[in-house]
Amino acid sequence: MDNHRIRKVCIIGASGKLGRYLVQHALDRGYEVVGVCREVSVGKLAEFADRITILPGPTNDRELIRRAVAGCDGVLSVLVPWGVQQYSSGTAQAVLDFAEPEARLIFSCGWHITRDGRDRYSVWFRAALRVAAWLGRLLRAVEIEDQVEACRRIFASDRRWTVVRGSDLEEGESQGLPVWSRHVGDPVLASNRTRRVDFALFMVEALTDDTLVREVPAIVGRLTASAQAQAGEARPQVVRNGEDAAG
Ligand SMILES: NC(=O)c1ccc[n+]([C@@H]2O[C@H](COP(=O)([O-])OP(=O)(O)OC[C@H]3O[C@@H](n4cnc5c(N)ncnc54)[C@H](OP(=O)(O)O)[C@@H]3O)[C@@H](O)[C@H]2O)c1
Repeated sequence: MDNHRIRKVCIIGASGKLGRYLVQHALDRGYEVVGVCREVSVGKLAEFADRITILPGPTNDRELIRRAVAGCDGVLSVLVPWGVQQYSSGTAQAVLDFAEPEARLIFSCGWHITRDGRDRYSVWFRAALRVAAWLGRLLRAVEIEDQVEACRRIFASDRRWTVVRGSDLEEGESQGLPVWSRHVGDPVLASNRTRRVDFALFMVEALTDDTLVREVPAIVGRLTASAQAQAGEARPQVVRNGEDAAG
């Protein structure tokens, strides 16, 4: 398989909000798309039904994932820790086990995932995470620890993976490719806001960006105040008519 050429991709969790943006970006690039989603959600992919292959079923069904990723140059996985059923780790493990040897594997998650422990979180972020984890466990609705376990397995793998960590998300028109940094707490990320359409754009672009192999980028919208401030600092200062102006 050619490392840089993407022809066919599998999108796991294709029917969700992020997943449908992933499908659109992949189709825009002319990729052949196989989408995996829950049986009850197949209708949410109706607008794409004649252009993609849909394999219905739970995303941690190993046999389903084995069939879905066969022959794919890239796999885009929306990692979600629903229920108490190893949903995220089951999905990640199946992708790691069955994807083609040279396939690019792109996974989504949130800023709470850390690889090297050098991310710096605000008190509010930590408190909100603790409450969400406690509530999720209490209601047996969400198992945030399982998304952590999924990422631990991905980080330990020598596959060609990228784990994209999304900030708080919002809907709206694309602002272009988000900017990224290695650690939460870096000033460029301070605005903590990304358009969901651009989260998907970053993931699809990562398929062909080998500089992101085995990276864990934390992303933020490129038009947010913190990203703009950083871009401004990076620009050289040019002196015109005796006044400073951004170059
Ligand atoms: N929301 C945020 O603010 C935020 C922030 C940072 C990072 N992220 C990351 O972004 C990614 C997408 O998150 P999102 O919030 O935008 O959600 P989303 O794209 O709407 O994705 C939710 C996914 O979960 C599935 N799902 C929903 N209920 C389920 C259930 N009961 N059982 C099994 N699967 C179920 C959905 O499938 P169906 O279509 O079948 O329902 C869909 O594939 C995740 O990796 C998340 O960690 C989100």
